[in-house]
Amino acid sequence: MRKRFLIGLLGALAFTSNMDAENLIIMETDNTALVYDVADNNRLYQRYFGKKLKNRADYSQIPNTSEALITHGMEDYYEPAIHINHDDGNNSLLLTYVSHEESQLSDGANLTVITLSDPVYNDEVKLYITYYPEHDIFKSHTEITNKGNKPISLEKYASSMLHFTNGDYYLTQFNGDWASEANASETKLEFGKKQLDSKLGSRADMFCSPFFQIGLDSPASENQGDLLVGTLAWTGNFRFTFEVDHRGELRVISGINPYFSTRTLKKGETFTTPEFIFTLSDSGRGKASRNFHDWARDHQVYKGNENRLTLLNNWEATYFDFDENKLIGLIGEAKDLGVDMFLLDDGWFGNKYPRHSDTQGLGDWKETANKLPNGIGALTEAAKKNGIKFGLWIEPEMVNPKSELYEKHKDWVITLPNRDEYYFRNQLVLDLSNPQVQDYVFDIVDNLMTKYPDIAYFKWDCNSPITNIYSNYEGKNQENLYVDHVNGLYKVLDRIQEKYPELMMMMCSGGGGRTDYEGLKYFTEFWPSDNTDPVERLYIQWGFSQIFPVKTLAAHVTTWNRQSPVKFRTNVAMMGKLGFDIKLADMTKEEAEYCKRAIRNYNELKPIILDGDQYRLVSPYEGQHAATMYVGKNEGDAVLFTFDIYPRYKSGIFKSEANVKLDGLNPDKKYKVTEIDTNDGKNREIGEYSGEYLMKIGLPLFTGNRLNSRVFTINKV
Ligand code: DGJ
Repeated sequence: MRKRFLIGLLGALAFTSNMDAENLIIMETDNTALVYDVADNNRLYQRYFGKKLKNRADYSQIPNTSEALITHGMEDYYEPAIHINHDDGNNSLLLTYVSHEESQLSDGANLTVITLSDPVYNDEVKLYITYYPEHDIFKSHTEITNKGNKPISLEKYASSMLHFTNGDYYLTQFNGDWASEANASETKLEFGKKQLDSKLGSRADMFCSPFFQIGLDSPASENQGDLLVGTLAWTGNFRFTFEVDHRGELRVISGINPYFSTRTLKKGETFTTPEFIFTLSDSGRGKASRNFHDWARDHQVYKGNENRLTLLNNWEATYFDFDENKLIGLIGEAKDLGVDMFLLDDGWFGNKYPRHSDTQGLGDWKETANKLPNGIGALTEAAKKNGIKFGLWIEPEMVNPKSELYEKHKDWVITLPNRDEYYFRNQLVLDLSNPQVQDYVFDIVDNLMTKYPDIAYFKWDCNSPITNIYSNYEGKNQENLYVDHVNGLYKVLDRIQEKYPELMMMMCSGGGGRTDYEGLKYFTEFWPSDNTDPVERLYIQWGFSQIFPVKTLAAHVTTWNRQSPVKFRTNVAMMGKLGFDIKLADMTKEEAEYCKRAIRNYNELKPIILDGDQYRLVSPYEGQHAATMYVGKNEGDAVLFTFDIYPRYKSGIFKSEANVKLDGLNPDKKYKVTEIDTNDGKNREIGEYSGEYLMKIGLPLFTGNRLNSRVFTINKV
């Protein structure tokens, strides 16, 4: 009889063993079950991943799919999750079951750790599955330990492998480029392999966002269909492999991209992979998104359940062209507008090489004397006098070759010593695998905070991928650089969070080049795109909202697409963490007055928009209209945004199917619908309807006007 262990209690409560007579390891959330089987050959197989069954005994009648973690060199002919190269040249790995432990964590999650080991080489692989019952969210990662006597090389080291036997699979990916992030497109997966990955090192998500959706059996729609949604919590190179085998089984392998990242483990050393986070929805994309949103606010995003600050950012208002007077003027405008904070962007530092453009100065974090003769202190003071908070832009992981830092410390720069340098945005990446560089980056924040304790917020930018890949840190194994660089960044962020727990930070990377859940453990929000044209933003925010709560999506009103009314721009930004990046001089008096009212409205509605349930009602991908609503928790009051983009004359708006059908309401309750946030400041009552009417019949809220937007409150009567 194989020996099995149940060890409870990492947190408060133990629960009963999930291993039954059939040797099954059962992990159930409220709606989903992931079941492994220890087969007679003592190897671990995925038995089932799907809807939770009422009767646990039923899992034992389901046939096994493939081995849970397929390894290189054994009898499977497809892509392996784990590949270890041993010192004697033997690349095979056989994983047999040793034990498993189950526990409940203090945050309410359950954890199962399954230990597997190679009987010949003693390599140990621990598979960690954490699952959150009420959110239907699972997390998976592996821990690989060299328990043999000789060094081993990890060629592939996935965080997760999942198997599906549905037969038909429809992958939705989210890719793009600078100013065009997170475009959704769907493809049917046929026999063979498709990979989504990044090799950019830093600014890792510039071309491809680290998340995906797979419609199982049929393409998923917003409210229908079985759907897997997954993302890797890793601020660096990722890889998702989707492979359909000859029998129609889909294997999904997720983890760090092993590209140029073979890791050597000496005797006794362990490598821990990042979390792959996933959910299964049986009612389409909307439900999957809400699973992620709720879980993220409760368990992952920094200060996930706390308030967010509205702000005025000077980037688009001034670019690099500012001085103390101009900024103090803008701080006054921030107060007039009624936002919570002023955020000073790029261009405030550098003296030998003043940061007058993106060509120089990065690395020299001292105020430019002729721009800011009285330093940042004069600005934090001005903000204080105006009763608002102050935030500051930094890009601490980067250096311009035209900087004092580069002149002093070329050894801290990721660059090839014997070749011409290639620059992305005129800059290079600092080597965070070097502990001295970690100290330097920590000190940038620490020094600023020590000197100016009134800084409440940082916008932390990262504009370049890793170019000229080579670490000049003595003795560095070059193949460890991509991974160690990211872990170095986490070390710095850990120190900052520990010392300055009140600090809020925006994760930015030349727009949405950094959009991952591990980063969001440190950052309260991220900047999805430099493209703030509200029409483009409808799509970009639609894409990111598939996985991230809108609380984490910074959205600013700017002068992009001046054709669109300020109200349209503001309403798009209100469906996120609202900010402004515009001078009052760029608006008419009426527009400025509108913005002030909109900020007041937003402040009132914030708890519903940022902490409620999001329902994407009408997709901009499907026509010239869009609508999204947010419902306060517990079938509470709701807010609805509708947009007419460029509708053709009378297109569809008189048909009954053009009604906007609401969602998330109680069918048996009555609601009052009111249009608010109007240009003249007057609210308009639309009427009273049952929840059922609003959800089944809907209301004709779209118009034939171009670039038109409307906001409605839906209140229980
Ligand atoms: C890229 C960011 O996405 C912008 O918002 C701005 O901060 C610039 N960098 C500043 O250089």
